Amino acid sequence: MKIIKSISDMQEMSNRLKRAGKRISFVPTMGFLHEGHLRLVDVAKRYGDVVIVSIFVNPTQFGPKEDLSRYPRDVRGDCSKLSKRGADIVFLPFSKDIYAEDFQTFVEVNELQKPLCGKYRPNHFRGVATIVAKLFNIVMPDYAIFGKKDYQQFILIKQMVKDLNFPVKIIGVETVRERDRLAMSSRNTYLSVEERETARHFAESLYLASKMYRDGQFRNPSGIIKYVKGYLSQFKEIRVQYVEILDARNLTEVKDFTQDMVLASAVFVGKTRLIDNRILKKKCR
Ligand code: PAJ
Repeated sequence: MKIIKSISDMQEMSNRLKRAGKRISFVPTMGFLHEGHLRLVDVAKRYGDVVIVSIFVNPTQFGPKEDLSRYPRDVRGDCSKLSKRGADIVFLPFSKDIYAEDFQTFVEVNELQKPLCGKYRPNHFRGVATIVAKLFNIVMPDYAIFGKKDYQQFILIKQMVKDLNFPVKIIGVETVRERDRLAMSSRNTYLSVEERETARHFAESLYLASKMYRDGQFRNPSGIIKYVKGYLSQFKEIRVQYVEILDARNLTEVKDFTQDMVLASAVFVGKTRLIDNRILKKKCR
């Protein structure tokens, strides 16, 4: 497995691969890799001839009071996991190269960046769209693989690719969960043993709501939201930031069950912010 740190070396390598007729699959990450990330690598292998993974903790997607400096890092461990999993190239750029001192160009996906996490993390999705656009220009992938755990990010990137005509196909991968259903996340390492135990109830609340929805136990979206909030209110260690149901295609409001929906939530367990979601398939009348 090759490790590339310079932007121009990465561009040269991608150009060379393309000239040789190789299809490039790309998995952008912020590192501290877990099975969720590695599953994206598995999917990447199915699509492209060469799998490139980037590790870059992107400063522009963290708010001023967020956890950029404390974000977990383990580049050596990550590289060993990626090599075992069959990645071909790891791109590890330096922050000063990605964001030069006079950097001033940002990508904004106007509507999709507003709801859900966008309400509580101003500029987060502008940072995400900008770094992903930059990485696409550096890596020049044919396929880019994203997890549906970050559902808003996944559809926002799809919209950006469509709007800006990036020649890349976006592939979504289902959320990988722990045995007790907690969605895997680099941030789970912040949880104490007690908090980790509590966190499973968050995943459980969304799972149960989606199951009850399938069984026809709700009459409208607000009934589902009420159920999830009620369930979570049993646990005083869980503080709900939002529970919402939106149209799964464009994150607009829904009043009934006639379109596919995303049930999405963010909570704090102690100081750690966790997000999760479930897709609710439409019911035609
Ligand atoms: P990061 O949180 O490291 O996640 C990298 C990729 O892994 C994202 O596509 C994310 O959705 C996916 N992922 C994380 N946990 C997952 C899980 N449990 N199951 C399936 N996929 C999972 O998302 C980012 O980094 C950044 O915002 C990035 C896109 C790299 C831009 O900086």
